[in-house]
Amino acid sequence: MSIELFGPEPEGATPLTDEDYLGLKPKWIATRGDLNLAEAQNILAAMDKHFRAPMKLEVILDDHFVRKLHKDMYSQVWTWAGTYRQIETSIGFDPLTVPESVFLLMENSKVWIQQAKSKNLDEIVCEIHHKLVQIHPFRNGNGRMTRLLADLLLISQNRPVFSWGGGGLEKVSLERTKYIEALQRADAGDISFLVNFVRSQ
Ligand SMILES: Nc1ncnc2c1ncn2[C@@H]1O[C@H](COP(=O)(O)OP(=O)(O)OP(=O)(O)O)[C@@H](O)[C@H]1O
Ligand SMILES: [Mg+2]
Repeated sequence: MSIELFGPEPEGATPLTDEDYLGLKPKWIATRGDLNLAEAQNILAAMDKHFRAPMKLEVILDDHFVRKLHKDMYSQVWTWAGTYRQIETSIGFDPLTVPESVFLLMENSKVWIQQAKSKNLDEIVCEIHHKLVQIHPFRNGNGRMTRLLADLLLISQNRPVFSWGGGGLEKVSLERTKYIEALQRADAGDISFLVNFVRSQ
């Protein structure tokens, strides 16, 4: 069977390839609905684990944690969970630069957050989310991983998590269109659309 049978993906998603599909672990997955369910179950378990035991900023802003979080979210579904990609993707930096780019972003982010006043913390967290998803460290699952990482950062600073437009980002929806547009504005240097989006309902 080929991943093509799974049908089209929502706008702004990194398309899964047949090579990605070779890393699919559960044998019962035959449709995109099955895949979404398996990933959602895995992600819920990871959220439960990480929301129960809030972490310090220095623990989260570390390239080891980025890989650990991706592994926690997807290792029941994909063999490549937690492993940096070595292939080009439709979004993202040259794969050869991924390890260093993630490392440097995490180092810089520690300084940005420590210097942030509570007023502009949302903006800094949006910058980190955007820059990390732009690097696109993994074959897939980058959007969901970097959104959870942003929420964990907010929790570490005793701030409420983002609403992410009220939900519905996983499927074709108005919220998803707005979110992808906000990321494209951020690509062009304007983070304000994303900052407004993340606390909208
Ligand atoms: N122009 C862009 N600039 C930066 N990031 C982008 C852009 N377009 C899309 N993205 C991000 O890439 C993500 C898609 O990448 P990927 O498929 O690896 O993640 P995902 O978790 O499977 O996605 P999702 O659950 O959001 O569909 C989007 O959710 C969004 O966060
Ligand atoms: Mg995807």
